[in-house]
Amino acid sequence: MRIFVTGGAGFIGSALVRHLVENTTHEVLNFDKLTYAGTLTTVERVARSNRYRFVQGDICDAEAVRAAIAEFKPDVVTHLAAESHVDRSIDGPGTFIQTNMVGTYTMLAETRAYWLGLDEDARAAFRFHHISTDEVYGSLGDTGLFTEETSYDPRSPYSASKAGSDHLVSAWGHTFGLPVLITNCSNNYGPYHFPEKLVPLMIAKALAGEPLPVYGKGDQVRDWLYVEDHVRALQTVFERGRPGRTYNVGGNNERQNIEVVTAICGILDRLRPRADGRLYAEQIASVADRPGHDKRYAIDASRIQGELGWEPAETFESGIAKTVEWYLANEAWWRPLVEAKAAERRGVAA
Ligand SMILES: NC(=O)c1ccc[n+]([C@@H]2O[C@H](COP(=O)([O-])OP(=O)(O)OC[C@H]3O[C@@H](n4cnc5c(N)ncnc54)[C@H](O)[C@@H]3O)[C@@H](O)[C@H]2O)c1
Repeated sequence: MRIFVTGGAGFIGSALVRHLVENTTHEVLNFDKLTYAGTLTTVERVARSNRYRFVQGDICDAEAVRAAIAEFKPDVVTHLAAESHVDRSIDGPGTFIQTNMVGTYTMLAETRAYWLGLDEDARAAFRFHHISTDEVYGSLGDTGLFTEETSYDPRSPYSASKAGSDHLVSAWGHTFGLPVLITNCSNNYGPYHFPEKLVPLMIAKALAGEPLPVYGKGDQVRDWLYVEDHVRALQTVFERGRPGRTYNVGGNNERQNIEVVTAICGILDRLRPRADGRLYAEQIASVADRPGHDKRYAIDASRIQGELGWEPAETFESGIAKTVEWYLANEAWWRPLVEAKAAERRGVAA
């Protein structure tokens, strides 16, 4: 199949592009604006494949989207391009509304125009797959899980913009009959994660001997999913998922943020001990909590497991060990991004 991937230079999009080129026979078009969060070094190792091509473009630019779709003639659009960092959405929500909502609208409108021009079989087989987050469901107490029936209750400008984009996708399915799929996924981690996000930020700061900033008590709970498990789930859904359906994707790996940071410190103690013989955990420092910080997210992934047979392959322990090892071996990838000062504290709403 011909897969049109938006946001394929970012963290999850690039993992999807690498996976599709390396492990399937699909052709891939990577459509990405290359914002601060996107870099082509994430897809360098597949860039020479004759089943891969790249177009630099903005999902809000209807003409650019139209031209790329017309030229590539996709069977599937997997839409990942977004502003994705909650802290940045507190500092500057406007870009999130523009990219995540107006951009998704533009993708839907241009995809629909193309889809209407296909013959009947191709129209029936076509899929528009929107990649979203569990943050649209709001925050859980100590118990319970998000299912696909959980009411939307977004709390941050980021999650509100993703909730809005989910509703647009759903409306294009109901109103116009576009064969849409939505996946809502928990926190991802793994290689090529931009070093402003928790896991790579902690690794970079630990190695630099800097304080490891943990919001409040670090007792917020997230359900961690290794990015390569996520992209296998995405492939499963766009190949075999039922149009009009939502699938939650999660790793069954709930951890408090402080547990994640402590695990990273423990692996670094083993693989790259501090020169002064002290432990990395001594660098942990509490900072003022993020405003409106959701307490707990946890996913019930039984639908995708039961209906489509997808299972995560990594436990948190195996995935986080692989991730730390990858960052130690690939400093040349992340060091320049850290040095570009992209990893400053944000989202204080001051
Ligand atoms: N990271 C997570 O844990 C997580 C969890 C669930 C869902 N998601 C969703 O998955 C998707 C990908 O997340 P990510 O972590 O890879 O994000 P990312 O920030 O690493 O990458 C986003 C990519 O989109 C591109 N982009 C941004 N604005 C664009 C525009 N206007 N036009 C074209 N390209 C644009 C960027 O250049 C970048 O390559 C997002 O939709 C996000 O909401 C992420």
